[in-house]
Amino acid sequence: MCGIVGYVGKKEAVPILLQGLESLEYRGYDSSGLAYFDEAQKKIDCFKGAGPVSCLKSQLAGIHHSGCIGIAHTRWATHGAPTQENAHPHLDNKGYFAIVHNGIIENYKLLKQDLEKRGYQFKSQTDTETAVHLWHAKNEHADAIRESFRQAILHMEGQFAFVGMGLDEPDRLFVFRRSNPLLIGLGRGENFVASDATAFLPYTNRVIYLGDDELAEVFKDHVRIYNLKSGRLIHKKSVHIDWSQEQAQKGNAPHFMFKEIHEQPEVLKKTLKQRIKNTQIIWNELRPKDLDKLKQIERILAVSCGTAYHACLASKYMFDACTGIPVSVDVSSEFRYSEQQLTRKDMVLLVSQSGETADTLAALNEAKRQGVFTLAIVNVRGSSLAREADAVIYTHAGPEIGVASTKAYTAQLMVLALLAIYLGIIRNKISKKDASAFLAQARKLPKYCLQIIQKKSAAVKSYAESLKDKPNFIYLGRGINFPTALEGALKFKEITYTHAHGYAAGEMKHGPIALIDDQLVVICIAPQSKTYEKMMNNIEEISARKGIVFSIGTEDDQRLIAKSRFFVGIPRILEIFSPILTVIPLQLLAYYVAVAKGNEVDKPRNLAKSVTVE
Ligand code: M6R
Repeated sequence: MCGIVGYVGKKEAVPILLQGLESLEYRGYDSSGLAYFDEAQKKIDCFKGAGPVSCLKSQLAGIHHSGCIGIAHTRWATHGAPTQENAHPHLDNKGYFAIVHNGIIENYKLLKQDLEKRGYQFKSQTDTETAVHLWHAKNEHADAIRESFRQAILHMEGQFAFVGMGLDEPDRLFVFRRSNPLLIGLGRGENFVASDATAFLPYTNRVIYLGDDELAEVFKDHVRIYNLKSGRLIHKKSVHIDWSQEQAQKGNAPHFMFKEIHEQPEVLKKTLKQRIKNTQIIWNELRPKDLDKLKQIERILAVSCGTAYHACLASKYMFDACTGIPVSVDVSSEFRYSEQQLTRKDMVLLVSQSGETADTLAALNEAKRQGVFTLAIVNVRGSSLAREADAVIYTHAGPEIGVASTKAYTAQLMVLALLAIYLGIIRNKISKKDASAFLAQARKLPKYCLQIIQKKSAAVKSYAESLKDKPNFIYLGRGINFPTALEGALKFKEITYTHAHGYAAGEMKHGPIALIDDQLVVICIAPQSKTYEKMMNNIEEISARKGIVFSIGTEDDQRLIAKSRFFVGIPRILEIFSPILTVIPLQLLAYYVAVAKGNEVDKPRNLAKSVTVE
């Protein structure tokens, strides 16, 4: 989705803006642009075009840029095709103001008609251009640019974030946020604005998170924040984010996805270290009143999208095994329109890597509207979900840049498993002895995860090369590894562009069996568990129809090895933790097939890292 970068300081703005845009490329976009204040000519210069940031860079090559303030944008087209005219920034007809924008201005057509009647000429099909002309129109009657910016925003409906600059006050950026990510990075003698902290991590870790309907003036050495409605100054504290620049860079890895798969043992180790003290499970972020709520809830409704939804599905099996609390799981886009009647004893659990997924935020709003306790499990600190839910638990996976989620997923599974055990303990469903047995097994996960990555990658890579041209893949699992089948198939289709379908293995005879022939690859997730024999039956049926069996099973399971064309073994682990290990070979398989096909692994076609529109 769209990305925003702004800079004001002492250095040349253009290289900093370009670097910021490059670090936001992973979010997915189709055009890019920037504008800066040209000190020499005292005007706003703007460069933009369809295509990647590298094209923008070539446009700017050889041009001397003398400005120390600027704004930049990567656009993911919503209103109007990805063309140069529609790319941001947009300027008013006189070139006094420039603006970049994320989100949607819902009443832009009416505003546009009115502005056209007043003589404003539109050059693009975007809703954004309305904002800049409106800003200009409001400025005719305002005594300060900030006030005309505020007035313009008060006339716009929708969810959006803006960063703008005005020719008459070239020492500051004008910033606004509503339901779209935007944060301010505080440097020394320089400040930054971005939709994502990775854009300014090379310069600072100190940030101010803007809240909804907050407007800011960002100068090089200070920041003023105002409430939109009242126009009054408000005070906000800055916070330190523990993400490092290295974490947000590829380093020597061939792809971010590769790096992030390999970071999983460390992420699991860090999660366990933070969450387990001696034999206690700890939730630092939760206040006593949140912990009290957790004791009282009688039902959990887990809501999320994509990979996070698969983590929620797996969590149902974890909560069932440990707590006895009834759990229902929904994708956010269904939950938000489902008209479910919630009660005060319910808890809506929202899981998200980015914390900015539009449907999950809408689900949160619905839960809040019904007065239900909401708990978010989120990776990005200060994200909308983290700020708006009643309580938040962070996954601490570090920045995830690859569009295909890997380490965020295993971190979510780890936190959800610990939450299930914790709820089991506080509700006397799990004895002390069982709890320590659970935690002893959990502590083995980082080592086991590392073993799989180190010892199995070569085999999975060679399997991937021999399977890369197969047209269809079915992923089958049972119980807690049914969600693993869904996740394996999602990973595979999003980066290999090959049809892959996840199914509950017990459903095979109810339809998918018709697809089996000697070209169909069937990935069977069959670790030794209570559903093992049932999986073996499925495998017999697939083999009888000449399907290609690729199984993930317990290390050295000779029976399964004998029945599989391809086999990847994983260490034996308690069932509630098994999805954390079984998914690793599936991530590797998707990765190596995508590489073998020459696909853009980190930025698969048509996809964006965080889906901030419905
Ligand atoms: O940021 P979120 O966890 O809310 O994102 C949800 C999905 O958009 C995300 O998991 C998506 O399915 C990934 N591309 C999967 O790899």
